[in-house]
This record gives sequence, C-alpha cells and structure tokens, in this order.
Amino acid sequence: MTYLHCPLYDFTATPAQRKEAIRLADHAAPFADPLDGDAVYGALLASGADPGDVDAVLSTLSYGAQAAADLAARIGARGTSPAGTLAARDKGECRRILRAREVPSVGFRVVTDAAEALEAAETIGYPVIVKPVLGIGKAVTSIAHDPSAVRAHFAAAATDRDGLAEGMARQLDERYLVEELVPGDLYSVEVAASGGRLVPLVCASRKVSQENPVLELGCTVPSGLSTADEAALGRYAVEVCRALGLDLGIFHVEVMHTPSGFRLIEVNPRLTGGSLPDTISAVAGVDIFALLVDLFLGRPLPDDPLPLEGSASHSFLAASQKPTVPAHLPDDWVTPFLGRLHSGYARVRAGDVVPPMRTNFDSFGMLRALAPTPAEAEAACSAVKADIEGLFGFPFLAEQTRTPIPAT
Ligand SMILES: Nc1ncnc2c1ncn2[C@@H]1O[C@H](COP(=O)(O)OP(=O)(O)OP(=O)(O)O)[C@@H](O)[C@H]1O
Ligand SMILES: [Mg+2]
Repeated sequence: MTYLHCPLYDFTATPAQRKEAIRLADHAAPFADPLDGDAVYGALLASGADPGDVDAVLSTLSYGAQAAADLAARIGARGTSPAGTLAARDKGECRRILRAREVPSVGFRVVTDAAEALEAAETIGYPVIVKPVLGIGKAVTSIAHDPSAVRAHFAAAATDRDGLAEGMARQLDERYLVEELVPGDLYSVEVAASGGRLVPLVCASRKVSQENPVLELGCTVPSGLSTADEAALGRYAVEVCRALGLDLGIFHVEVMHTPSGFRLIEVNPRLTGGSLPDTISAVAGVDIFALLVDLFLGRPLPDDPLPLEGSASHSFLAASQKPTVPAHLPDDWVTPFLGRLHSGYARVRAGDVVPPMRTNFDSFGMLRALAPTPAEAEAACSAVKADIEGLFGFPFLAEQTRTPIPAT
C-alpha cells in the first residue's frame, strides 16, 4: 500500500491521523501540487514503490481525484476514467453533458465576471446561485436574489479566495457557474461503478443551514424517502454517472428533490467525504472504505443497494459569528454528551474563539446517533446539540427542517 499525499491538504485530517496513515503504508511520499502529473508520478517513484506493482490508484478526497485518475492511466493501473473525473469536477462541462443527453438538469451559464453573470442571471431568472466551476467545500459560493447580490459576490470574490486555505484556492480557476437556484430538499447518493454496471449503494438526506442553505450541517441514512422515490433517486443518480463516463469507483451524487423531480446539484468523482462514510458504515454492516478498495481491486459490484439495519444521523456544530466558548468548561466537557450518542467529537475548549462557518472545514464538532428510524436518529442528535448550545450560551447554526414533497 502506497500513500501519496500533498501537504496543501493537511487541513483535511488531524496530524495524528496523517502520521498513522504514513505508518500504515508500505511506501509514502509527499507531492507539492495535485494538478502537476509529473510531480505526482515523481512522488510515486520517490516513495520506493514500483509503478509496475500498482494494482489500482484511488483518492477519497476531491482535491486528489484527478491526480489519482491521471496517475492510474499513466502507469496502466485500475482507476477512474480521467475524462469522466474531469467531466464531474468541471460543473459547467457536467451540465453541458447532461443537457446533450437530455438528463433533467437546471438552467446554467459559465461566466468569468460580474457583467456576464448579471446577463446570465437575467436570462435564467432570479434567484440564482453563483459558484466556482471547479468549486469544492462551498468555497466562494453565493445565493443571489437580485442583481445587487450578484455584484456583491464578484466584489467580495477576491477577498473570499484570499481567505481560503491555499490548497482550496489552488483548485479554482477564473470561471463561475450561474445556476438556477432550485427549491427542495437535498439528498445524496453513493453510486458504485465497475465492469460496465452502476449501482446506487445508499441514499442520504442532508441537513442544511436555515440561514444559508449552501452550508451543510449533517446527514441521515436511510434518506427517509418513500421506497418509490428512493428508487427514482437512485436511477437518476446512475443516469448522471453513466452520462459523465464515471466507470470505476464510488461516486458522490448530490441531488435536489424539487417539486418537478430530481435535479443534479453536483457529482464528486470520489466517495462521500466528511462524516458520512462512517454514518453509512454504522448501519450498512460493511465498512464502505473496504468496499471501495475491493471495487478498485476488481471484486464484483453488489447487485443491489446496501441493506441497512436501523438509522444513523450526524450533525455538525457550527456558528455564524465568532463567539467564544465559556471559560469555565472542564477539558472533558464533551464526554457526558458523547455518552448519549453513538459517536462524535468536539474541537473546541474553554475560551476558544469559534470560527464562523464559511466552508465545510469550519465546523467545531460532530454528533452521531443511531436509532430505529431516521426521525428518531435526527431527534437524538438535535437534543444533544440543543443541550451543548445551552451550555455554550451562544446560538449554533440551525438546521432547516425538510419540507414533505408529494411522491413524484
Ligand atoms: N442549483 C442549485 N439550486 C439550489 N441549491 C444549490 C444549487 N447549487 C448548489 N446548491 C446548494 O449549494 C451547496 C453547494 O453547492 P455545490 O455542492 O455545488 O458546492 P461544493 O462547493 O462542491 O460543495 P461540496 O464540495 O461541499 O459538496 C449545495 O450543497 C446546495 O445546498
Ligand atoms: Mg456539494
């Protein structure tokens, strides 16, 4: 097992986790830039691994997806199609492909400045969302209900980009997507692909912020959709992955359930990240990462969606301002709260200033509950979150309650 890593993305794991990954690997080496194929190949050589021995190359991180696909193609190992990976990463190209294949999608235009964006928004109709074509993790993304909000997005864009971790900014180019903002509830599907077949493994419902629905605050598995709707969501996600040419791996497809049906938000050409893999594994009875590795090693795809036992839900702790954690808390303040849950963590201690949530990397804790039904798992998370909020004495970002939509 060879572990190639890029220090620009050290913020995606703790130093202890990173050290453990390096310890577990037979070979390990860093590379400076995931978009530089020669540098990534150079790291493989420097690690001491023999490229001819490599069975497969994969990344579970969006930032490394293209590097992994390109490296696999370069050394003749199993990997996701580089073209399919690029088609998913480039959200404009993704929408163009869906339109050409007549897969239901949303109105969009790719722009590079405020003037073009204003014109696009006028044609598409407000409200719109403006997001980087290669955006990951909610970087520089705004909802605009009128032209002044579009202008504000571009006026703040340079400063917003400067405020990002270097690795996040590095992945962006000058292009933005102006998209029809579709109403509804957000879901995601993990689609597995191998040997010409695609299977929707598992669907999750996604908790978003009431104040700013761009920000995600957690997930629940199973999705809570009716059997018929969940099957329709799975078929739609498979159709999207097939259109893009995503041929090997597990892909994370984000979909809005709108009054007129399912509409793609985006496809990540890698397994879901953050806390969802463990939330899935908790009820699927299999380790989703093990399944991913098996797929890349050529083991057969499951025939059907994963059978689930019970429900699991996780919620992030996040704030919109920059509040301070009360000074009187003991270091182990979170322990009694975790005792009421399946798992979780908190990253703040007495006196810490909590970062306001702008991207996926700004939450200060996670709570995970298991229960017989999705509603009960969500209620268990909410109850503990409310009690921590009471202890901290400042408001956390509130979760939007989902609107029941009649079956489609
Ligand atoms: N066309 C749209 N209509 C409605 N909501 C949208 C639309 N596009 C994006 N969103 C909302 O904004 C969020 C961020 O968009 P998107 O997933 O494309 O960005 P991202 O930066 O790639 O996110 P991540 O990498 O964290 O998944 C989505 O989760 C969704 O809530
Ligand atoms: Mg997304």
